[in-house]
This record gives sequence, structure tokens and C-alpha cells, in this order.
Amino acid sequence: MHKKELLHAGKVKAIWATADPDLCIAEFSDRITAGDGLKKADLPGKGRLLNQISALLFTRLAEAGVPSHFIRTLGDNAMLVRKAQLLPLEVIVRNRTAGSICRRLGLGPNIRIEPPLVEFYYKNDALHDPLLTRDHIAMLALVTAGEYEEIKEQALAVNQVLRKTFAEAGLELVDFKLEFGRAQGSILLIDEISPDTCRLWIQGTTASLDKDRFRNDSGDVLAGYREVLQRLQGTAKQ
Ligand code: TMP
Ligand code: ASP
Repeated sequence: MHKKELLHAGKVKAIWATADPDLCIAEFSDRITAGDGLKKADLPGKGRLLNQISALLFTRLAEAGVPSHFIRTLGDNAMLVRKAQLLPLEVIVRNRTAGSICRRLGLGPNIRIEPPLVEFYYKNDALHDPLLTRDHIAMLALVTAGEYEEIKEQALAVNQVLRKTFAEAGLELVDFKLEFGRAQGSILLIDEISPDTCRLWIQGTTASLDKDRFRNDSGDVLAGYREVLQRLQGTAKQ
């Protein structure tokens, strides 16, 4: 399967058309960004790691009955995916307080959130991805009421599977961001699931192996990502 025209160039990933109108190629670059792209760097080997981690997690999800756009990896830095119409939403699931919810609600970090919280943000760089209520989503007609429920249900199903997968690898899934699209009239999980889009702490600690190392200049980013992959593959020394 070969790349045809470029359909979408994000800050970190690119989506290419293929000869099959129902399939695309998602390509991971070595770029890392934070703070709406204000902070950026190139980390050679990062794209390959994220491609492997995302593929492994999408595969675990599929095995647990949670579908996504992922079909298979294509070489080191890319995956073959089902084509979907991107919805302008970032869906965040939180199991513990960290990051923006602490700032927004004046909470300390590392407080358990039970049941897990699902938040919707407007994927719009110019507006800095504002938090959306359900009524905002209806007002803007971003998705239907039925699609809203479907997305929330899928996000919680993803959380259940991923929490278990990471726990078996000695990691705590603190929070993560998902994106969804529409494919053949249905809601489909798209994008990536990786340490770029999840907070992952070593179980029983607040030691972070994810992009917070880059955001906070708090450690070797690639070493953290490598450890996540090794733990998921069961090859890390724990
Ligand atoms: P937040 O604490 O900044 O709201 O982030 C919550 C989770 O979502 C965290 O795991 C990082 C992830 N995330 C992204 O992947 N992309 C984004 O643009 C944002 C804001 C968060
Ligand atoms: N919104 C950030 C960015 O510009 C992502 C993040 O901080 O997670 O890439």
C-alpha cells in the first residue's frame, strides 16, 4: 500500500490517501510539541516508538472488542488505517487528577477520580481547544445527541481496557486523550494512543514516563517512551 496525496498535516502526524478510497496511511514524525506547538523538538526514533506503542494498544483494544481505525503497521513509522471524517473534538478521560483539571478546579494532583471523568474539548488551535459542555456541542452541532453518547461510551470502554493493559505492565493510566471520526455513518476511534497522549505513572508513584517529561523538562523523553513499550511487550526489567 503506497502513499498518494497528503490529506492532513498535523503538528506531529500526517495522513495520506491510498489507492483505496476507504484506507489511509497515518505517518508518525519524530517531532514532539507542547503548549499549542510553542515548544517543539525533534527526537530521532520517536515516530517509530509511537507507531509501535499505538499499534500494540489498538490491537489490545480490538482483542477486547473495542474497534478503531487501525488495520496494521506499514514499516517503522506508519500504519494503515480506515478512512474517517475527523470530528473536531478532543475527548479526555481522567482516572486521577493531573494537568489542566488541577489548574481549572483548584485541585491537588493525584486524587483518584471515581467514576472516571470524560471531558470534551473543541479541537480548534485558534481558540486553544476550549472545554465544551454537552449543550455547547449541541449548539455547535458538532455531533448528534446519539453520537455524543456513543463517543462517551466508547471512551469509557477504551479506559477499561487500557487501565488493565497498563496495570499489567506496572503502569497507572492517569488520563489520556482520544479522537473520533465518522466512518460509514458510525463513530470510530481514530488518531493514536501513546505516551504523547496519555499520562502514565509507574504504579504506586507519580514518576512519569510520558510527554510530561517534555512539557516539564523533567527527564529523558525517549527513554520514558522506550520503557513504556518494553513494559507493554513484557520485556522491561521491572
Ligand atoms: P490536560 O491535563 O492538559 O487536559 O491533558 C489531559 C490528557 O490529555 C493528558 O494525558 C495529555 C492529553 N492531551 C493531549 O494528548 N493533547 C492535548 O492537546 C491535550 C490538551 C491533552
Ligand atoms: N496542545 C499541545 C500541543 O500543542 C499538546 C499537549 O500539550 O499535550 O501539542
